Amino acid sequence: MRLKDFGLQSGINEVIVITKGEKLNTAPIGIIVEDENRIEAKARLYPSHTRENVEKGSFFIANIVRDPLIFAMSAFEDLGEEFFESLNPPIIKDALAFCEFEVRLKGLFADLRLLRGDIIRKEVRAINRGFNAVIEALVHATRFVKNQSPELEQKIRECYAIIEKCGGKREKQALEIIKEKTGIL
Ligand SMILES: Cc1cc2nc3c(=O)[nH]c(=O)nc-3n(C[C@H](O)[C@H](O)[C@H](O)COP(=O)(O)O)c2cc1C
Repeated sequence: MRLKDFGLQSGINEVIVITKGEKLNTAPIGIIVEDENRIEAKARLYPSHTRENVEKGSFFIANIVRDPLIFAMSAFEDLGEEFFESLNPPIIKDALAFCEFEVRLKGLFADLRLLRGDIIRKEVRAINRGFNAVIEALVHATRFVKNQSPELEQKIRECYAIIEKCGGKREKQALEIIKEKTGIL
């Protein structure tokens, strides 16, 4: 078993991490992989519900997801159970794969160790710059809602232009969520 068996490659892999507190929590998190042929990875965990749940002993399950709307919704709130095709293990509808990790917090970082995983479906899809721009905008937007800096606003606006030009329906729905949550219209 290796990280790459479940689509996690060397570099930073943007996934949806599911943890459990009083209810299921979903958040986009970057899984940092040095060697995709191994089972060890890392994540930076800033203060968040995800981090709190891990501190209380929650499982840590990554879903590999390609839906921009799922990223946008999870960035700002938690997906309800109706968004899951399975609750045990938690698998979001249309997820491509899931991986469960053992997690040990070390300062700002979490050391991750792959416990199990499965590929749920395989999908062929070309690169879409609109999708990439949604991810980029969301990274800035999750910071912007805590710190309304003009630099972040500028970066988010640059992403809007790409989403509008290159995105499909789901990217444009994600764009509406980003606009609503940031107030950057
Ligand atoms: C693509 C993407 C990647 C992110 N990566 C991380 C990360 O690696 N670590 C982190 O702490 N927050 C990351 N964030 C921000 C969290 O997803 C965001 O703070 C979220 O609101 C946390 O939700 P929670 O409080 O329900 O855990 C990322 C956001 C996006 C959109």
